Amino acid sequence: MNQELLQKALEQLPEHLKRNLTKNLCVCNDVPKLTIIHAILNGAHTLQAIKAQTYASEGNECCKQQIERLLEYLVPEKT
Ligand code: FES
Repeated sequence: MNQELLQKALEQLPEHLKRNLTKNLCVCNDVPKLTIIHAILNGAHTLQAIKAQTYASEGNECCKQQIERLLEYLVPEKT
C-alpha cells in the first residue's frame, strides 16, 4: 500500500474513525480496520466488494454500519 495514499485517506476521516486502526473492526471475522481501509483504497467501494475482499461483515453484518461510515468518508461520490 502506498503510504502517501493511505495518509491522505486517513486525513479524510474524523478523529473517532482514525482510532484503533490495527484492532478488529469486524470482530466476528477478525478483520482490522486498517485492512478494510486498504480494501477501500484498492477499489472495494461497496459493502459487497469489501466482504468479498476481506470477509468483514460476512455472516450477521453487525459491523455493517461502521463499514458504511468508512465508505462515506473515503468514497465521497457515493454520498
Ligand atoms: S463484527 Fe463484523 S460481522 Fe460481526
